Amino acid sequence: MGNLVVDPGKDHVLVEELAGPAASLFNRHLSVSKEWYPFEDVPWDMAADFEEERWNAKQYPLSQGVQSAIIVNVLTEDNLPYYTHTLMSPIKPDHPLRDWSRRWTAEEWRHSAAIRDWILATRAIDPYRLEDDRMVQMSKGQVPQSNSVAEMIAYVSFQELATQVAHRNTGQALDKTMRGKKIMSKVAGDEGLHHAFYRDLVLAALEIDPSTMVMAIQSELRNFKMPGTGIPRFTEHEEAIALAGIFGAQQFVEAVVKPTLSYWRIFDLEGLSAEASQAREKMGRNLAGLTRLAAAQQARIASLQA
Ligand SMILES: [Fe+2]
Ligand SMILES: [Fe+2]
Repeated sequence: MGNLVVDPGKDHVLVEELAGPAASLFNRHLSVSKEWYPFEDVPWDMAADFEEERWNAKQYPLSQGVQSAIIVNVLTEDNLPYYTHTLMSPIKPDHPLRDWSRRWTAEEWRHSAAIRDWILATRAIDPYRLEDDRMVQMSKGQVPQSNSVAEMIAYVSFQELATQVAHRNTGQALDKTMRGKKIMSKVAGDEGLHHAFYRDLVLAALEIDPSTMVMAIQSELRNFKMPGTGIPRFTEHEEAIALAGIFGAQQFVEAVVKPTLSYWRIFDLEGLSAEASQAREKMGRNLAGLTRLAAAQQARIASLQA
């Protein structure tokens, strides 16, 4: 079995048993999600022809951190079809997760359209550079990979909540008059529902096979990296976004990992195998390590502001 965290046979059984919960969570999603139109909140009256009026940074001055957040947010949304395609590749064509995945991909495109149109109308970001970066990122099609469906659903649970926090905090950093706040908050609302789908799918999986899921969650937490690694200058963007207090170790630990693990009642689960109990202990140590990392990052932000 090599270095695989999740036994492929157990993963296969788990996926089959998750068909029922996936179908009902998909129906729940359809009943609670609201349709919205990505062009409605764009301030089109601000838009100007780029041939006649060239873009310049003074048109909508934003800090580096906020610019980085907007760039990473929109380019990550652009890359979603590769992401969902890769995530769904081990799932059979008639599994309800496939129906969910198509709807999910369609919603993510709406985010990309809304944010890009807003960028073009407000001139928040250099559109030439953004398009060049999009071509690089989408030509690579680099996406997070998991070795099992158990790990994939654990990863996406964290990632969708992280994305919600990142969009919401980006919106908070923007002023109301340019309508960026409203667009980001609509996008963040959808991300919250995507998170709820995966979070509750993991909850169902924890009931079916708690030991497999605990090992999968631990493995994803230890290796967690936001999607978007194929974006040019991703590391610099990531750093700027963290230092701006939009999304970094602090938000990841406090607003993503802790609430999700506590929703799953990970540390109260009983009847785990010896291997899964060990994984849970490691998870506790990972969490302590992440908390220290967050404190160090907060101290750095404070020293930069002093
Ligand atoms: Fe999205
Ligand atoms: Fe999402």
